[in-house]
Amino acid sequence: MIQIHVFENAQDTQGKTITAKAGQSLMKAAVAGDIDGVAADCGGTLTCATCHVMVREPWLGQLPAMTDDEDGMLDFAACARQANSRLSCQIILTDAMDGMQIDLPASQY
Ligand code: FES
Repeated sequence: MIQIHVFENAQDTQGKTITAKAGQSLMKAAVAGDIDGVAADCGGTLTCATCHVMVREPWLGQLPAMTDDEDGMLDFAACARQANSRLSCQIILTDAMDGMQIDLPASQY
């Protein structure tokens, strides 16, 4: 079981912990874990950018590089992308990602 720690904003020091299985996308885990800040309107087909998250180090550096399609779609995120922005539907979880910490943007719209 993989645990992911989700932080709503800078004031959220406690965060919420969700669980996931290897092979599941981070977006699916967030939706299943009732993380309202991940809307995921397109269901993971890389056409909405409403699954935008920011991944903290050291996990960011361990992720596979984003594709050109993810990179392009991130430009359409409602909140300006950060250096550690990713689209959570494109992150397939592995056991090595256990303990990952992510931040949510202020809005997905
Ligand atoms: S869920 Fe739509 S781009 Fe990720």
